[in-house]
Amino acid sequence: MPTVGFARLLAGARSFKDQGIANVSDTYRGQILVGQGDVRTAIIKDIPIREVANEVLAATLAIAISLPVPPPFLALASTSDLATKHASKLGGSSLLFASADVNTPSIAQIVLVNGVPQPAAIDFVANAMKQCTQLGEFYGFDGWAANTDRHTGNVLIGPNQQPWLIDHGRAFTGEAWKPADLDPSKLYRHRLKEWLTPLLNDAEQKRFSALATAMVPTLSALDVKALGEQNRVPALVGQEDFNRLVTFLTDRIAFVPRIASDALNQARIV
Ligand SMILES: Nc1ncnc2c1ncn2[C@@H]1O[C@H](COP(=O)(O)OP(=O)(O)OP(=O)(O)O)[C@@H](O)[C@H]1O
Ligand SMILES: [Mg+2]
Repeated sequence: MPTVGFARLLAGARSFKDQGIANVSDTYRGQILVGQGDVRTAIIKDIPIREVANEVLAATLAIAISLPVPPPFLALASTSDLATKHASKLGGSSLLFASADVNTPSIAQIVLVNGVPQPAAIDFVANAMKQCTQLGEFYGFDGWAANTDRHTGNVLIGPNQQPWLIDHGRAFTGEAWKPADLDPSKLYRHRLKEWLTPLLNDAEQKRFSALATAMVPTLSALDVKALGEQNRVPALVGQEDFNRLVTFLTDRIAFVPRIASDALNQARIV
């Protein structure tokens, strides 16, 4: 059963900007028809097909290990309803990535007021992240999937302190990756290391590093190839590149402990 649903964008989507930071893509909020007459509000992204593929595969893998990612969709939009700039065209429609709107602000929105970080808001966010039982897995997942874009606009936190992970367009080393970019042992940019790790003390860094290390059996048990195929990733990236991605992800599992410990400043010289 696919993780990523099919949807049709209904007329009336509005351009949407994150209030905390300038988001890069052309992003819209609108209504999508998700089948059997069900309509949902979603955030819809006008992005190139490789970025759509990254979103689809990363969301599929994250959801397969129970990480909190809003329900993802491949959405078709009539070019008369939405004038897209980057999306691939299928007949008279654009192929877009959509995720169900969880109606929750990003950390950037919570922390930045007129571009200035607010100390009380940083404390709130740091506590919410530390208390989330899955924080070690967030580090491990971003390391494994070579997600280079987990900045503060790409984690949402609701009033109940539950985080959501969004925006995986720059997973698998970047938005326009080529097979030659995929090196299983390489330390790619891990942005949690830049803004979240400094908010953790040494004991917390150690604990989350151990939790990321403990993911290895779970990741090894995933059938990445089958999950990708069920969610149409070969059609989005091409069979050859899909095969290379599966090999990259399979080989990279062994490096997750080292990648996560580096991201948590626990790298040891041995
Ligand atoms: N499923 C969702 N539910 C609620 N808000 C969302 C959702 N998806 C995205 N958003 C909001 O829309 C903003 C832009 O979405 P997203 O981060 O996916 O696009 P982007 O333009 O690629 O961002 P970036 O600047 O990181 O490249 C997010 O920062 C967030 O505020
Ligand atoms: Mg973003």
